[in-house]
Amino acid sequence: MPGNSNLHDSSRNKQDEFYTNLQLVEDELKHYRAHFKGKRVLCNCDDPYESNFFKYFAMSFNSLGLKSLTATCYATSPVVYTQLDLFGEGMVVSRKERKGTQRGKQPYKIVINEVTDVNGDGRIDLADVEWLIKNKKNVLTKLKGDGDFRSPECVALLDEADIVVTNPPFSLFREYMALLMEHGKQFLIVGNMNAVTYREIFPLIRDNKVWLGNKSGHFWFKVPDSYEEKATDFKIDENGQKWRRMGNICWFTNLDIEKRHEEMTLFRHYSPEEYPTYDNYDAIEVSKTADIPCDWEGAIGVPITFMSQYNPDQFEIIRFRKGDDDRDFTINGKPTYFRIIIRRKQKGHSK
Ligand SMILES: C[S@@+](CC[C@H](N)C(=O)[O-])C[C@H]1O[C@@H](n2cnc3c(N)ncnc32)[C@H](O)[C@@H]1O
Repeated sequence: MPGNSNLHDSSRNKQDEFYTNLQLVEDELKHYRAHFKGKRVLCNCDDPYESNFFKYFAMSFNSLGLKSLTATCYATSPVVYTQLDLFGEGMVVSRKERKGTQRGKQPYKIVINEVTDVNGDGRIDLADVEWLIKNKKNVLTKLKGDGDFRSPECVALLDEADIVVTNPPFSLFREYMALLMEHGKQFLIVGNMNAVTYREIFPLIRDNKVWLGNKSGHFWFKVPDSYEEKATDFKIDENGQKWRRMGNICWFTNLDIEKRHEEMTLFRHYSPEEYPTYDNYDAIEVSKTADIPCDWEGAIGVPITFMSQYNPDQFEIIRFRKGDDDRDFTINGKPTYFRIIIRRKQKGHSK
């Protein structure tokens, strides 16, 4: 099996098992609706019974005008068939059934090509999707392997897809992104903003092949029962479901969105006292994106959170992390936090 992460499986699993809630999916996806018409969508780290990505696309299949929706699940997910419940109480396929002989623990895929009122209740909704899964041949089928997104059968599904949308395992983010790029896919995926600093990811950002989506910040995710309780950023809801709040979360995409074309309003004016320059690179240090001066035409060092407001018509990205001496940027000998070096594109003042 492919995969060369040197993290142990257990710590990798721990890092990877965060489940995206529907609100987060809806809040972001509403900005991309126009991209989905006639498209084949793949969610390749998603047990359809547990994933709110699958749920969102199944619910919106007709309103988005999708051509198809495919989801594959990974065999070793510790929550497979155990915890999260997409279709909720009272639905036809119960957890017990899912654990039973019908599918066993074999990873599977679900492919949906149309959603009609198949159950004849006068409405087209998730119940129809569920009916399809349960009753129609070739909607739910077993995978040969373990559902690893890098496995040949999952890569074949990737090749068939137009747009990939998911929250992939954090520990495999580099590999996941590399695969998307290699196969020339359109995508919208959840990640940690620190991935901007990865050697493999930064060039994609700099060259405008990948950018940040609409929302970023701190978000709550469901975590498995086995998740260790924490003193902060942790809660257990009234249903006993554990939640963890993660910081620096953002979306990575190559689908165009309006936000990417909004110009950042710059209020501050340059002064040498307020904007020191680096010892080892000819740029001014701006520790908060909002403080970028409107009247400085040279290079500017900004924190990575700048990326959530980056408009490629307003700024260009020049380099990151290292100064001319190939060391981290310093001011009076003191290293700064990770910085991206940008420059204003337009002449004159910003609006
Ligand atoms: C961050 S979780 C998100 C799950 C789901 N996409 C969601 O948003 O709720 C990442 C998921 O990827 C699964 N996973 C881990 N390694 C994988 C692999 N090599 N191939 C496919 N899925 C994998 C994990 O079991 C986990 O369910």
